[in-house]
Amino acid sequence: MESPFSLKDKVAVVTGGLGLLGKQHCDALSEFGAHVVVCDLNEDQCRAFAKTLSTESIGIGIDVTDPETIKTLVKRVLSEYGRIDILINNAAVNDAFESPALSLQTSRLEHYPLSMWQKIMEVNVTGVFLCSQIIGTQMMKQGKGSIINIASTYGMVGPDQSIYRSPEGQQTFFKSPAYAASKGAILALTRFLATTWGATGVRVNALTPGGVENHQEGFFIQNYSLKTPLGRMARVDDFKGAIIFLASDASDYMTGANLVIDGGWTAW
Ligand SMILES: NC(=O)c1ccc[n+]([C@@H]2O[C@H](COP(=O)([O-])OP(=O)(O)OC[C@H]3O[C@@H](n4cnc5c(N)ncnc54)[C@H](O)[C@@H]3O)[C@@H](O)[C@H]2O)c1
Repeated sequence: MESPFSLKDKVAVVTGGLGLLGKQHCDALSEFGAHVVVCDLNEDQCRAFAKTLSTESIGIGIDVTDPETIKTLVKRVLSEYGRIDILINNAAVNDAFESPALSLQTSRLEHYPLSMWQKIMEVNVTGVFLCSQIIGTQMMKQGKGSIINIASTYGMVGPDQSIYRSPEGQQTFFKSPAYAASKGAILALTRFLATTWGATGVRVNALTPGGVENHQEGFFIQNYSLKTPLGRMARVDDFKGAIIFLASDASDYMTGANLVIDGGWTAW
């Protein structure tokens, strides 16, 4: 009997597939048997990474804010595999703690630049809307599909800005308003898509990851871990099981939900 977690011969599109977590999502889908379409801004790099996966997979360059590139992606995937079963809306701009792009002053709410707000909304919200609209419409024609929107704990709870403060009391960064608002919008969009498309067989769920340890400064890792009931930041591969669950028939009766994998951060 085939496992309900099997993704054998399924076709999965992953946006932001070259990023820290995107690569993990691609690995997980491939390990469970899916053909993966690795999507990111640079097509050559997508192709090169697709070759490293354990199933026959392809790489396609797209910009999630440009509908023409997404329509072309659908045409290319259909000519290669004839269907699209899974979409992971993972691409995002994250002006995270480690980002040098925002200085202490510009990350502060009172000075936060409109251009940064608009850029983050365009990629993180409009990008998810466009990919869901165009690829979800194809899934509707097939009568089945699973869309997974990658949110964040900051879409559920406000940031504690003190975790970005060094032991000497120096505030090094403020978590931005745009990132949190964009991720809250993703949770609302997930519910909208799920209830609108429920009868079509297209399921839409969100996955909310907690912060991933990724060479941040030691004091930040410690501050974050202290606020997490499990006592640590996430490891990059902590979300693989949740991705398989949401993508596969194992979650067949689940739509409009938010699967929170955050070490308990939002439980306090
Ligand atoms: N890393 C974390 O701690 C963390 C925590 C919670 C949620 N998340 C979420 O997980 C997802 C992945 O995060 P990550 O840390 O791997 O980010 P990342 O920055 O490593 O990867 C994001 C990828 O998206 C791509 N991308 C950006 N704009 C794009 C566009 N317009 N079109 C196509 N691709 C584009 C980038 O090239 C990059 O490869 C994001 O949605 C993020 O908000 C991450």
